[in-house]
Amino acid sequence: MENQIKRIGVLTSGGDAPGMNAAVRAVVRSAVGRGIDCIGIRRGWNGLINSDFIHMNASSVSHIINKGGTMLYTARSEEFMDPSGRAKALATCKLLGLDGIVAIGGDGTFRGALALSRQAAESGHSLQVVGVPATIDNDIGCSHYTIGFDTACNTAVECIDKLRDTMQSHERCSVVEVMGRHAGYLALYVGIAVGATAVLIPERELDFDRDIVEKIRRARLAGTTHYMIVVAEGVASAMDIAKRIHDEVGIDPRVTVLGHIQRGGSPSARDRETASRMGYEAVKVLAESRGNRIVATQDGRIVDLDMEEALQMTKAFNMDRYQVLEAMTNCKDIL
Ligand code: F6P
Repeated sequence: MENQIKRIGVLTSGGDAPGMNAAVRAVVRSAVGRGIDCIGIRRGWNGLINSDFIHMNASSVSHIINKGGTMLYTARSEEFMDPSGRAKALATCKLLGLDGIVAIGGDGTFRGALALSRQAAESGHSLQVVGVPATIDNDIGCSHYTIGFDTACNTAVECIDKLRDTMQSHERCSVVEVMGRHAGYLALYVGIAVGATAVLIPERELDFDRDIVEKIRRARLAGTTHYMIVVAEGVASAMDIAKRIHDEVGIDPRVTVLGHIQRGGSPSARDRETASRMGYEAVKVLAESRGNRIVATQDGRIVDLDMEEALQMTKAFNMDRYQVLEAMTNCKDIL
């Protein structure tokens, strides 16, 4: 049952992630290739509320696959959380003749999409929505991977490698805060990749003595004179951790909050490729007249899942990685 869908909208919402542009490009080109009109909704769900859109064709997405950020802009919409905001959004969908929407973003974006499609159904309007996971946090339960994670990890690693140079020269301790919202995927992955002295993640209850003091002590006894502590923002602020290190260990750490720099930059090959496959799949799902789906990766394969079920899924935190980190930092003779 192909091509019941005549016109779709595509939007990016929530925090931007490198690779969002590649996903938009894939959605537009896949739609055009199937004879489906594509409208770019700007500024996330606000664009539907405010009728803020652009017509897209194959060439309007030329030369963006390598660009960070999102050409459609993004926002977190308070108004869309309310049924009255969604009613305005639905009015725009009707006016533009949209049969489907591809929403590229995180958890909040998908919850918004589901609420919109339910409200549409209640008012007798059929609107198919498909979510594409894009967030540097990699914290979407239903998908092993989210667009932007790889680039953000590489950006953080590049920054921390630079910090290490100066920390080594001055024989200092560095406390680096990385993003990740309530999850520690980014921090742990980056921590392993930079050879951190210690990594603090929200998934593991903090024992300051075990997780920091003891690790610094071991490193010092083994002859090391600089230390790299990576803190996930979901644990504590790097400032607070540095103060405790100062008070309890008696050294004077330097603090770096990597912040939004982790969200920028040209997407890695992995993010471009994943975004292209996910964007393609999202349009395929809509062309098959299937809605309320989330496109996801499972063991490297692209799948699509019922949106309501997918939003209830949780991803087991990979503690094996933590054990790898422990094995790297617990040796007594590290230099
Ligand atoms: O979800 C992506 C993310 O960058 C999180 O890692 C971070 O906690 C949050 O967004 C920051 O949001 P904002 O852009 O609103 O400061």
